[in-house]
Amino acid sequence: MASLFITFEGQEGAGKTTQIKLLYDYLLAKDADVILTREPGNDPVAEILRAVLKDPANAAMAKEGEVFLFAAARAIMVAGVIEPHLNKGGIVLCDRFVDSTTAYQGFGNKLDLGFINSINQVASRGIMPNITFLLQIDPSAGLARKAAYKQLDRIESRDISYHTAVKEGYDYLAAQHPNRIVTIDAALPPKTIHGMITERVDKLLEQS
Ligand code: TMP
Repeated sequence: MASLFITFEGQEGAGKTTQIKLLYDYLLAKDADVILTREPGNDPVAEILRAVLKDPANAAMAKEGEVFLFAAARAIMVAGVIEPHLNKGGIVLCDRFVDSTTAYQGFGNKLDLGFINSINQVASRGIMPNITFLLQIDPSAGLARKAAYKQLDRIESRDISYHTAVKEGYDYLAAQHPNRIVTIDAALPPKTIHGMITERVDKLLEQS
């Protein structure tokens, strides 16, 4: 079986973490050689960067500093986890990848998109997902979903105009990459969404 790289993207509270876990279990049940990863994370250094990036105590961090920390975590994870697993023909599921940087730091923080593309290219070693499931939700509905069960972190607690810009970023990416990005309405029942996702993944597995 050829390698497959599948990413999940979306607004805060869109339910992508639930969906990626469901897909992981589905693929494990098929005896696939699959790993579940998240960004930033999956490595001791990247997990430290994740904690720094999420900590509300670091609210004043410069946006230029923030983007380099996300890129650093990605570079470490791609080199240490994602690329090796793809090279041996496995399946990698990743909760967020380069599209998050375009949406959150490019559109949300208004950093230059050319610069974001360059930094994404270096950190990802040019590895792009075969398919990306984008779970879209109204930003305020997503944030309300999250706030109902947890304290909002440094990025989640940014104002609504930031999160609206992030959503616009995702809409832009979906329009730019219609063959890679599958947009799904996150308001649909989780079981329906899971069915839509497995249908697409099964097709890719048949082709590989
Ligand atoms: P989450 O995956 O648990 O939602 O947490 C990751 C947070 O980091 C989320 O608020 C989105 C944000 N993020 C960025 O701003 N840029 C990035 O490149 C990545 C990977 C995540």
